[in-house]
Amino acid sequence: MYVCICRAVTEAEVRGCIADGACTVKDVVKGCEAGTGCGSCVGKIIALLGAHADELGSPLRRSA
Ligand code: FES
Repeated sequence: MYVCICRAVTEAEVRGCIADGACTVKDVVKGCEAGTGCGSCVGKIIALLGAHADELGSPLRRSA
């Protein structure tokens, strides 16, 4: 399933960037170019980053 249609980046690729250490949207952009087109996928990238942080029990939380 694509997260970023503009750059044809899949959810698996974004999750791979996060697993490789991406902690911010900027890190994900550098890792796989998701979010560098129209920007409409940035919310989904943020959600994936937040889900990963939750899975790790990180004290970092998404702002409401
Ligand atoms: S859908 Fe990701 S930049 Fe447009």
